[in-house]
Amino acid sequence: PEPIMIAPSILSADFARLGDEIEAIDAAGADWIHCDVMDGHFVPNISFGPDVIRAIRPRTSKIFDVHLMIAPADPYLEAFAKAGADIITVHAEAGPHLDRSLQAVRGLGKKAGVTICPATSEQVLAHVLDRVDLILVMTVNPGFGGQSFIEAQLEKIRRIRAMIGDRPIRLEVDGGVNIDTAARVVAAGADTLVAGSAVFRGGTLDAYRSNISSIRAA
Ligand code: DX5
Ligand code: ZN
Repeated sequence: PEPIMIAPSILSADFARLGDEIEAIDAAGADWIHCDVMDGHFVPNISFGPDVIRAIRPRTSKIFDVHLMIAPADPYLEAFAKAGADIITVHAEAGPHLDRSLQAVRGLGKKAGVTICPATSEQVLAHVLDRVDLILVMTVNPGFGGQSFIEAQLEKIRRIRAMIGDRPIRLEVDGGVNIDTAARVVAAGADTLVAGSAVFRGGTLDAYRSNISSIRAA
């Protein structure tokens, strides 16, 4: 089995000190940096765009995992690629043409991810499995950090793990992941955990280090 990756979501960071926060989670043991991009249209919140990602990119050499909650995504893919994203994940629900979006991401030389919301069936993944490097399962409705984990998604995670088979696709889970839910998510087949509020609580480097190691231990 793949090693478990922990990807802190910087949505829960102190935006006034974002560069320092990136350095702190890097030092605290984050594997990837999860960047939540929200447009106020696909999701009911607005976060940040490619210019912010470009500004923080030099603060770490870790993988930038960019979760686009924007519709349509296609007009902005090149900007996120140039800003320093390593993985670009688009929502299956964002449309209009998921297959085209995924081909565009790979065409830009980046790893391509597809995300599905809690109410979306895993069947939308069936015809894009050869076009993706990562599948992201939302275990909350996208838009905000700090929401509670939707238990019913565990069954979907299990089914997606079976669909992946031996393909080299990472299975990432996002929303409500903490020391109480992490073990069940991994047991269901996830290999990459996004965590926002569970990593950033405490607000100091020592707290981040202890939060990340507690999630890893769980
Ligand atoms: C939700 C975002 C998540 C979120 C996770 O729309 O995609 O990455 O920030 O936050 P927690 O871990 O607090 O649920
Ligand atoms: Zn996210």
